[in-house]
Amino acid sequence: MDERRAAASPPLEAALAIEGATLVDPELGVVEDALLLADPARILWVGARSQAPAWRLRPAGERVGARGRFLMPGMVNAHSHAAMTLMRGYADDLSLMPWLETRIFPVEARLRPEDTYWGALLAAVEMLEAGVTAFADMYFFMEETARAVVEAGGRAVLARGMVEPGDGSGERALAEAEALFRDWHGAAGGRIRVMLGPHGVYTTTRAFLGRVAERAAALGARVHIHLSENDDENRRSQATYGKSPAEVCAETGLFQVGCLAAHCVKVSPRDIELLAEHRVGVAHNPVSNLKLASGIAPVVEMRRAGVTVGLGTDGAASTNRLEMFEEMRLASVLQKVRLDDASALPAREAFAMATLESARALGWADEIGSLEAGKACDAVLVDPARSPALWPHFDPFSALVYSAEPAAVEAVWVAGRKVVEDGRVRTVDVERLRHEVTRRAAFLTREEG
Ligand code: NI
Repeated sequence: MDERRAAASPPLEAALAIEGATLVDPELGVVEDALLLADPARILWVGARSQAPAWRLRPAGERVGARGRFLMPGMVNAHSHAAMTLMRGYADDLSLMPWLETRIFPVEARLRPEDTYWGALLAAVEMLEAGVTAFADMYFFMEETARAVVEAGGRAVLARGMVEPGDGSGERALAEAEALFRDWHGAAGGRIRVMLGPHGVYTTTRAFLGRVAERAAALGARVHIHLSENDDENRRSQATYGKSPAEVCAETGLFQVGCLAAHCVKVSPRDIELLAEHRVGVAHNPVSNLKLASGIAPVVEMRRAGVTVGLGTDGAASTNRLEMFEEMRLASVLQKVRLDDASALPAREAFAMATLESARALGWADEIGSLEAGKACDAVLVDPARSPALWPHFDPFSALVYSAEPAAVEAVWVAGRKVVEDGRVRTVDVERLRHEVTRRAAFLTREEG
């Protein structure tokens, strides 16, 4: 009946049609010879081309022939500090506290708003070309990062990082964070969201964390924090409060407002219970955790307890590369060696972490993280012909998690707009970008005489 009535009215026209790819999606699984129709910002229909409802919808705008390609949702980077691209390779081979305190903080003290803009623009370009369409970021001068993301054509949830050494300076940062929320939350057609970002339990006070929780609840904002990144951080928390960082967060109300917790490397079974109970989203950053010798997070145990665990890169100063193929691959193989079990965290689960689970951790799964009808058209076309590491391939989840690299990314759409074509971002003057970041990085890291 519905079919007859629909046939009487003219079919809906889809402004974008991607035809013939192998769809690889955390919810829909693998669909050969797929068709995706979008309006173009939103997905109207997706599935096997043979089952397309021709009576209801027809391609009428851009038609992309995608035979032989993988079509996957844009990856979601659940934890980053975009502008830290300016410090890429500047402070390697150090553990977390000396890395931060002797190398990173002095450079950050010199950082100007326009440096943040260029650093974040570089990060946005690098991520888009690697198939990462959205990221959660914590840093300073976040309106500059917002500008960069909008210009590059991506999507981000931004938090002004706040520290409170006990001198009241956190209040000023909190006022800026609230202004950022008012000015940018939901901006650029919903491509920008804003969270509050207390840096960590070890860089703030308990009273300040309570204040942030209170303001977040009043604004309806979520929070983004670093949590139990390594043993040293836990020791500091125990020495100050006699509690773990997770216990402090739960106590101050920070876990109750919708929390994204980065790292969670050194979490106890009790901490994991708290994360699950308060539906805290975790951002797992395997490369950064390895490079700073922080440890290997108990991802399997957290997932088993019902915790949503997404994947992130952390900043380029500790990770060097802002891409998620390597994070997926490492997330999986690290759990295997940690648990002495080669079946731990299989490819499909690692793929879900980089897409839908990250989106859930950000509180954004209503729009992104999978290619289901009704969601935003944030899609990535991976062409195995671009990368010998993908010859041959069998299971698509295995190919994308264990073999793929950014060089295989052919095209990227965000909200239906094609921002990467033939592997390159088309929205930004990349030569000028390279010149600006090189010049600014040299200025920021120059040694005082
Ligand atoms: Ni971080």
